[in-house]
Amino acid sequence: MELLTSYGEKLQAHIEATIPNKEPRHLYEPIHYILKLGGKRLRPVLTLMTCDFFETDCEEAMSAALAVELFHNFSLIHDDIMDDAPLRRGNTTVHEKWDLNTGILSGDAMLILAYQLFEAYPAERFRELAQLFSKTAIEVCEGQQYDVDFETRDDVTLEEYITMIDYKTAVLLGAAMKMGAIVAGASETCKDSLYQFGRNLGIAFQLQDDYLDAFGDPNSFGKLVGGDIIANKKTFLYITAMNNASRLQAKELEGLSSITPKDPQEKIEAVKRIFISTGADEALQREIEFYTEKANTVLSAVKMSEDKKTKLREFSHWLMRRTV
Ligand code: IPE
Ligand code: IPE
Ligand code: MG
Ligand code: MG
Ligand code: MG
Repeated sequence: MELLTSYGEKLQAHIEATIPNKEPRHLYEPIHYILKLGGKRLRPVLTLMTCDFFETDCEEAMSAALAVELFHNFSLIHDDIMDDAPLRRGNTTVHEKWDLNTGILSGDAMLILAYQLFEAYPAERFRELAQLFSKTAIEVCEGQQYDVDFETRDDVTLEEYITMIDYKTAVLLGAAMKMGAIVAGASETCKDSLYQFGRNLGIAFQLQDDYLDAFGDPNSFGKLVGGDIIANKKTFLYITAMNNASRLQAKELEGLSSITPKDPQEKIEAVKRIFISTGADEALQREIEFYTEKANTVLSAVKMSEDKKTKLREFSHWLMRRTV
């Protein structure tokens, strides 16, 4: 996607000029390692793009955009520890390449560096950005805790699941866009509408992540395909499969999620077969479309030129069909 590349390049230059690369090596090397692996840079691009779309030079939003990307990368390092994940962006995760303590401390340092970046803004703007950032960060922690709690529960409802992904993922996309609007000095109504747009987009985004975690192509996904099934994550696929299952299918799925085989491949294949035979995979695709459309509807309230709204809508449709 062209938008991702053009803003992404600007961000890369800013990252290299801003993040310290010094002693102690074991603190800063993992930070540069994870940042160099890149990823889609979706959240900072949303910040820069929003600022741009409100007719303000996106360079002004650069520090906020970088703060969001640093926070995201911090959360990935810690998330990979929590999920016991071996792969990130097609490479070894930080805690496996170094060790657990390195992952914890480098992650912590990234969180602090992210906060520091808001110091670039004048007092009033700093306050508004930092307030949004703190509120969002604590919500992400709440979402992450629910995600882990749900692994060992078998009565998680779809409503609980949506709340969990709203917190662990969607609020950050909403905040990323709102930050761009804050820097551009947009009205309260516009700021709120873009926050809602980002949040609905974020729900669709995490739903798609859960789809790819089961059905993605291992060669392009960059993470361990089947990781959610191994960890018994209560995703939309699992909950819907359970809701639609015959008694026999439900028993089988319950049984599968209570075992931890040494070689998980058979478990993964069996669970995926149930996701398909219960129609959970198709229901998930419909849910992704529902939240993408919900996001797009919110845009009508925003004071922004029609061609920019069209760009945002195109972006959300592209995101819905992503494979990485
Ligand atoms: C991964 O986010 C974590 C989720 C919230 C699904 P991304 O898919 O945006 O990860 P990168 O930054 O592109 O690697
Ligand atoms: C990650 O959710 C959310 C955060 C990092 C806050 P996942 O655990 O599904 O993300 P991936 O699949 O590891 O990227
Ligand atoms: Mg994870
Ligand atoms: Mg996780
Ligand atoms: Mg995932």
